[in-house]
Amino acid sequence: MADAKHGTTPIVVDETPGKKAYCTCGFSLNLPYCDGAHSKSDTGLTPMVVEIEEAGKKAICQCHKSCSMPFCDGTHSKL
Ligand code: FES
Repeated sequence: MADAKHGTTPIVVDETPGKKAYCTCGFSLNLPYCDGAHSKSDTGLTPMVVEIEEAGKKAICQCHKSCSMPFCDGTHSKL
């Protein structure tokens, strides 16, 4: 099984309300969103699906150590 690819800083997006599928494997070419690449990555990971209630800037965790997944809580700065 392949290891997930993790980034070191969050990706900030100007998010719109609705259901979003955030990539957890790191192989998406459309980060922070899932593009289906997990099905070929052999990580066993699947996207995290979240309902966004309000539009606005969101920092999407890429280190995957946040306690508030899929959102950044600053943990990457302590790694
Ligand atoms: S492409 Fe990474 S979780 Fe779907």
